[in-house]
Amino acid sequence: MMMMMMMMLPPALLAAARPPGPGVSRVAGLATDFGLEVFREVVKASPERNVAFSPYGVAAVLAMLQLGAAGDSRSQIEGAMRFAVDDWGIPQALRQLQKLVMDPRNRDVVGLADAVFVQRDLELAPDFMPRFHRIFRQTVKQVDFTESEQARGIINDWVQKHTEGMIQDFLQKGTLDERTRLVLVDAIHFKGLWSLPFQAAATRPRLFHKIDGSSTSVPMMEQTAKFNYGEFSTPEGMEYDVIELPYQEETLSMLIAAPFGKDAALSALSSRINTRLVADWQSSMVRVTRLLVLPKFSLESEADLRGPLEALGVRDVFSASKANFSSLSGQESLFVAQALQKVKIDVSESGTEASSATAAVVYSRMAPLEVVLDRPFLFLVRHNPTGTLLFMGQVMEP
Ligand SMILES: *[C@@H]1O[C@H](CO)[C@@H](O)[C@H](O)[C@H]1NC(C)=O
Repeated sequence: MMMMMMMMLPPALLAAARPPGPGVSRVAGLATDFGLEVFREVVKASPERNVAFSPYGVAAVLAMLQLGAAGDSRSQIEGAMRFAVDDWGIPQALRQLQKLVMDPRNRDVVGLADAVFVQRDLELAPDFMPRFHRIFRQTVKQVDFTESEQARGIINDWVQKHTEGMIQDFLQKGTLDERTRLVLVDAIHFKGLWSLPFQAAATRPRLFHKIDGSSTSVPMMEQTAKFNYGEFSTPEGMEYDVIELPYQEETLSMLIAAPFGKDAALSALSSRINTRLVADWQSSMVRVTRLLVLPKFSLESEADLRGPLEALGVRDVFSASKANFSSLSGQESLFVAQALQKVKIDVSESGTEASSATAAVVYSRMAPLEVVLDRPFLFLVRHNPTGTLLFMGQVMEP
């Protein structure tokens, strides 16, 4: 396997880099920076593995969770994201983003969808639905988690539909059970054609140098063209270059950053990346003619987001005893049992197709059902092997 790190730079990051408006860029930038911090934690845990990730996806799910959280649970999410979803900016930012991606003139396709699947009989806090609808423009979908396989099918079908079939069987068997009360999901599908496609005939095997010093032969695409390009160095002096590959409409591009040294740790770069740095790249790159050689690649990866989120201070929501979701429901004690993301990306001569699905699965703590004998009762004392009743009686008043 190739050592390669892909960042899905699309929607939020580019919205931040080329802001449609001042208030919009602030929230989109903060959401993206939060997603990038989660990405850093994910790669820290597996520095030598291929990783595909969606910063926007994780920010969207945490924004939904934030909406339902209260007390410390809420302040920990707000602290990690550095904004409150009730800020005037967020509905506006999301709407701008939707408008940007839904523009019919845009031939690159970006689909963003968010949903909350909720247990049919869970009593939601009265203002949760209106707030959710106002911010995410989606309705809450009712399901029956006591039929957990059927509920899993409904959610997986929704994900499959919103990722154009790229992500199937998202939630695995056993993820949901009768304790499940809510599943918050974000799905993204992106399909963009390069504004400068590679000629398939020019693709040929070349060596790719892995971090362990070995090499492997992989199909590499190539073309000579004018690209936005820049050479940079980290404060520690590690030099790297950045090249931009725009999609047809040029509102979306893929940025590829790689250290010059074949044995340089990619983490020295990934640990630095934030929206400011990316904006700096874009403002200082210049259009130059280059022969670009890039591997064709397909990545599929799955991340458990709990560890990374806890490392960023989002802890209480995962604790059955500490989580506070009273803004979501006053009926039951809820906590996040699982947070996960699955991403698939294909990069070829013609362009890129990528999808991600991110979910938080919320369980009820299910306090043991109570049996309180506060009314008259019968009692029987039985010898079990023979069924003989040794004593019996009724208690009308203890
Ligand atoms: C949850 O947070 C709210 C708002 O801060 C607070 O009033 C409530 O007592 C908290 N509930 C629990 C169970 O901690």
